[in-house]
Amino acid sequence: MRVLSVASEAYPLIKTGGLADVVGALPAALAHHGVAMTTFLPGYPALAAVTGNAKVVHRYDDLLGVEARILEARIGEHPLLVLDAPSLFTRGGGPYGDATGADWVDNWLRFAAFSRAAADLASGVVEGQDFDILHAHDWQAAMAPAYLRYAPGPGTPAKTIVTIHNIAFQGRYGAEIFADLALPDAAFALDGVEYYGGVGFLKAGLEAADAITTVSPTYAAEIRRGEFGMGLEGLINVRADRLTGIVNGIDPAVWNPATDATLPSSYTARTLTRRRANKRAVETLYGLDRDDGPIFTVISRLTWQKGMDVLVAEIDELVALGGRLALLGSGDAALERAFLAAAERHPDRIGVRIGYDEPVSHLLQAGADAILIPSRFEPCGLTQLYGLAYGCIPVVARTGGLADTVIDANEAAIAAGVATGIQHDGITPEALSHALRRTFALYARPDRWAMLQRNAMRADFSWDESGRRYATLYSNLLERA
Ligand code: ADP
Ligand code: GLC
Repeated sequence: MRVLSVASEAYPLIKTGGLADVVGALPAALAHHGVAMTTFLPGYPALAAVTGNAKVVHRYDDLLGVEARILEARIGEHPLLVLDAPSLFTRGGGPYGDATGADWVDNWLRFAAFSRAAADLASGVVEGQDFDILHAHDWQAAMAPAYLRYAPGPGTPAKTIVTIHNIAFQGRYGAEIFADLALPDAAFALDGVEYYGGVGFLKAGLEAADAITTVSPTYAAEIRRGEFGMGLEGLINVRADRLTGIVNGIDPAVWNPATDATLPSSYTARTLTRRRANKRAVETLYGLDRDDGPIFTVISRLTWQKGMDVLVAEIDELVALGGRLALLGSGDAALERAFLAAAERHPDRIGVRIGYDEPVSHLLQAGADAILIPSRFEPCGLTQLYGLAYGCIPVVARTGGLADTVIDANEAAIAAGVATGIQHDGITPEALSHALRRTFALYARPDRWAMLQRNAMRADFSWDESGRRYATLYSNLLERA
């Protein structure tokens, strides 16, 4: 079975968040289940390293008005196709915006063209490229199923899946762009690409896809409600029979404390004392006091979704309780300033690094005692999975994938020997304060804390099971044909 995985990010080539980790891990995860996956990415400058001598498999004079080529390269051992369209993708800044963080004004064209090319690949336009399934991730790829539905190429169109990694990002634009999408007029319909009078990319994909998935069972249930559906809950409910929640796995080649070459000291669940050298390295890097109390970490986009405003409000209490905090992240300017101000108030107790740093994120998981993830919503979340694998105990809000992957250390779970972290209900200072106090109480009992760490590290979040689920979903779609 051949699957085209279409996304705007893939680790290790281009990453702004968990989407990249998942798209990067899927080809290996699916290969075990007889699926040959090709990844399709936009040709950002960061991809130049792998497209140097790439073969050109297709040329466009006019891809939504733009000159472009499709290049054949590799991502690790796996096949990669790249949409080389310099006028759309050769620019500084990030994949979605400039260096100041402002979205590119032509994002609609960039990702419509990308999706159009994906639909071409998945319907016989490009010689030598045949796919049974087109698997589109998030709004940036979601127009591909819509193109296949309204304007496929000459071959048999692939079956389609849209995976929602975050329903808060929808690719919503004014109706005026419709004329430039090269779609038939009939597509501008209630069950087509039209969305509240404008054009909705994610909406269009969810209407057109043969199957819809999201990245945890709890989030799949949550997005059927107004509180989480962000305006798409009606559509999600209508198509609920096509929706499944498949939790993300982690890539053991990248996230394994026993083999992680970025760490001062590697370790396993049996050699937990070797974490200490990593903790000392965190203290040094962040200029923190050296003591035996817990170090909390945050590795996150600093945004409202992630509950960071609530954490800011609780930070003095964390310090008063004897804790330290080592934060790595970037995002809203006001939140960045608030965390930097907290670090100025408590220079020896709070360390803040604004920015993006993959090796430091590994060190923090390996050296901190607990990772705080007070998200208001969290489709899956990967940092709690990395925390589990590294024995960095997740302290999380009970929502989305956080609810599905962490087992709260209540008395029953402790007695049964299955607890892996701490959960709290609601994202309020009171709820977070209560969770912090519970964490300190557990940390004060070294036997209990070590049990939590061992349970966490033994929990299985490899891709085995989730890879199997995607493979089954693909097969079911083909059988339905
Ligand atoms: P989201 O995709 O919503 O941001 P996830 O938890 O799914 O959240 O994934 C976040 C990914 O980005 C993880 O791999 C995490 O380690 C990484 N990450 C987040 N912020 C940073 C940062 N400042 N530096 C390095 N890695 C980061
Ligand atoms: C999104 C979500 C996050 C999820 C990731 C990968 O960025 O916010 O919860 O883990 O996608 O699926």
